[in-house]
Amino acid sequence: MSSAYNQLLEAAIQHLQDLKARGVRFVPLSSKNLAGLSRKLRISLTPVSPPAEGPLVKPTPSVPKTSHEAPVVEPSLKVPLPDSDAKIAAFTDLRHRALACIKCPNLVAARKHIVFGVGSLEAQLMFIGEAPGADEDAQGEPFVGKAGQLLTRIIEAMGLTRDSVYIANILKCRPDTPGQTAGNRKPTPEEMQTCIPYLHEQIDLIGPKVIVALGGTAMEGLLGKTGITKLRGHWHTYRGIPLMPSYHPAYLLRNQSPIEKRRVWEDMLQVMEKLGLPISQRQRGFFSKTG
Ligand code: URA
Repeated sequence: MSSAYNQLLEAAIQHLQDLKARGVRFVPLSSKNLAGLSRKLRISLTPVSPPAEGPLVKPTPSVPKTSHEAPVVEPSLKVPLPDSDAKIAAFTDLRHRALACIKCPNLVAARKHIVFGVGSLEAQLMFIGEAPGADEDAQGEPFVGKAGQLLTRIIEAMGLTRDSVYIANILKCRPDTPGQTAGNRKPTPEEMQTCIPYLHEQIDLIGPKVIVALGGTAMEGLLGKTGITKLRGHWHTYRGIPLMPSYHPAYLLRNQSPIEKRRVWEDMLQVMEKLGLPISQRQRGFFSKTG
């Protein structure tokens, strides 16, 4: 595929992700444009059987959607292209490979969506969780459930937006829960080992200045270290990048103690300092007795 095409494709994906992050679930698309695009381009965002990352585009009912017709967007979208051709092409290729992955048969059988990652390719800050839960599996986007909403509030308290950082998980598929009707399970070490090469490529391509590992399982998967209580708040290095472990937002939802909230916030203050972000007095005081 041409680099111009790859640019358009990645920009369209980014634009749709931006819309999705803002709550937009459907993008109107005229049947004329859809027909024209599918005739001229014959493109697919999901080249093999796994579904795309969420129901972003709803074609008009009058145009039947056949297997080769992927979600497509208006070709005239004016989206800025801040990234280099090579990076966009490599990221597009990586996304396609991840979306076609069938390495873990049990996860393939159970998943609704592969949850690749979301955010900016230029992100200076990357958050890494363990694996998608039910909400993420349903929507194809990481950290969209209750814990994800708390993560979004933390990101915004830092003066950033979800779109400006990058959010991913070690596992791209939801761990299956055979025989269970509710709840999640921790990914196995084998599952994490199988999937982590995709994350490595994401990290290497994005090249964030700082990584935040969310929770003990993420730390086990990334650095093989256990004991998040002692690990959090202290800098580590991962693939040459400073990494700050912190508690998983789901833990904060279970444990509403202001002390634990303050601990997470202190971890984020360290991250902000490392990134050279401005920190107001008000921000410094969040979750402290005076804050
Ligand atoms: N927990 C995670 O670790 N990742 C998600 O995407 C959602 C919940």
